[in-house]
Amino acid sequence: MLKALYAGSFDPLTMGHLDIIRRASKLCDELVVGVITNPNKQPMFSSDERMDMIRSVTDDLSNVSVDTFSGLLADYVNRGGFGIVFRGLRGTTDFDSEIHMAQLNDRLYDDKVETVFLMTSPDYSFISSSMVKEVFKLNGSIEGLVPDRILSRMEELTEKKG
Ligand code: PNS
Repeated sequence: MLKALYAGSFDPLTMGHLDIIRRASKLCDELVVGVITNPNKQPMFSSDERMDMIRSVTDDLSNVSVDTFSGLLADYVNRGGFGIVFRGLRGTTDFDSEIHMAQLNDRLYDDKVETVFLMTSPDYSFISSSMVKEVFKLNGSIEGLVPDRILSRMEELTEKKG
């Protein structure tokens, strides 16, 4: 049984993230999308909101589940018995930081865990959650950058929060 993790902030989940989830889910038996809760960061959406949004666009993928974690990624990986950690790479800038993170995490894993990098589809390689948030907050269109269901939920949630 190959259990894999795709972790991130997902504040919010973008089309690029969803593409990685779909592709990663075909390469393992079970894929957990791990939403980080960082008490030192003020996300736009709470971890519960982010988890609900992710569930709403992954419900057709039977081997994908959504969870949240805080603290070290390696501790969560060790507790969960994951064999693979997936990361998406948009380009060389991502690679430079990701390789260091993977090498550092490697020292913290109890058992052998492979970090598997999936190249982002060129259709989505310019998208980041931070840019999506900025455009959204300034009332620009983010259609096509996040899944439609997530866009509607973002609009509902921000209306509610005022
Ligand atoms: O979506 P992101 O922001 O690229 O996700 C980054 C994430 C959550 C994978 C990374 O920040 C992380 O692993 N945080 C947990 C803290 C940790 O383990 N830090 C050491 C990694 S070198």
